[in-house]
Amino acid sequence: MKFNVYITRKIPDEGVKLIKDIAEIRVWEGQLPPPKDVLLKEIKDADGLLALLTDKIDSEVIEAGERLKVISNYAVGYDNIDIGAATQKGVMVTNTPGVLTETTADLAFALMMACARRIVEADKFVRTGRWKTWEPMLLLGRDIYGSTLGLAGAGRIGTAVARRAAGFGMKILYYNQSRNEKIEKELGAELVSFDRLLEQSDFISIHLPLTHETKHLFNKSAFEKMKHGSILINTARGAIVEESALYEALKAGKLAAAGLDVMDPEPPFTDNPLLKLDNVVLAPHIGSASIATRTRMAVMAAENLVAALKGKIPPNLVNRVLIDR
Ligand code: GLV
Ligand code: GLV
Repeated sequence: MKFNVYITRKIPDEGVKLIKDIAEIRVWEGQLPPPKDVLLKEIKDADGLLALLTDKIDSEVIEAGERLKVISNYAVGYDNIDIGAATQKGVMVTNTPGVLTETTADLAFALMMACARRIVEADKFVRTGRWKTWEPMLLLGRDIYGSTLGLAGAGRIGTAVARRAAGFGMKILYYNQSRNEKIEKELGAELVSFDRLLEQSDFISIHLPLTHETKHLFNKSAFEKMKHGSILINTARGAIVEESALYEALKAGKLAAAGLDVMDPEPPFTDNPLLKLDNVVLAPHIGSASIATRTRMAVMAAENLVAALKGKIPPNLVNRVLIDR
């Protein structure tokens, strides 16, 4: 019997090919996410859904899936899916951990270096003809070498960022729910409280999932505790940072700069004041965007989906309680 699979956007062919063997595929061809009514209609007779982080898979969508067995998210983060509703209905949810770790860590580091050394400002400076001569005080930034990196979250991606930081001679602090012995032993990282992370880090890089606990974790009171002239990097989820408070901290000079690959909402409204600041470096949520990694994500999302349809345990099952039942 062939299954029905709905894919909410064009993804690399390497993934689609794997699903084609066992399922009839329908793909949403739009650039923007499918509207809710389309999703509700398409999910009705779908056995599997391959979704993106921009698709809000709430309880209404999940309930509408009369024969839905699996939601395969083309992302490591899954805050776009109501996991509780899926679990209650016995629908498996899968994600794509591991394959995007190094690629995302590279981008976090790229943002860190761009902020510290004011690369985007420098580029504009040259292009707009303002470069007159070598100047002792021109575009002075901050050293990465010898400074302290604070990791908010030290899972896979945080650990990969720590490895890069060690190569740059940084001291590493981390705030995490559990101890990460690997980065302590190999990189000399130190587990600290959230307050100490804020108070002692020159750079803070966020590598936490978005949950009720982490939403607006970086708010006014957090920015007040941060070191004067420190730099914030976010490649995780926009809503972990309260943007209005970040703007105030940047404007007041409390923070020297911020590098953001994620915002809340995405894309930002055109009147978002962060877009006007020279000391903010922005990217449109491209943490995992290398050719190789996006291809591997497609294969992984497809393998998860196919395994679930075939009645096997998918390699990257999020709601593992389902198999413990
Ligand atoms: C991207 O943000 C992801 O969660 O994979
Ligand atoms: C996500 O992949 C993480 O563990 O950082």
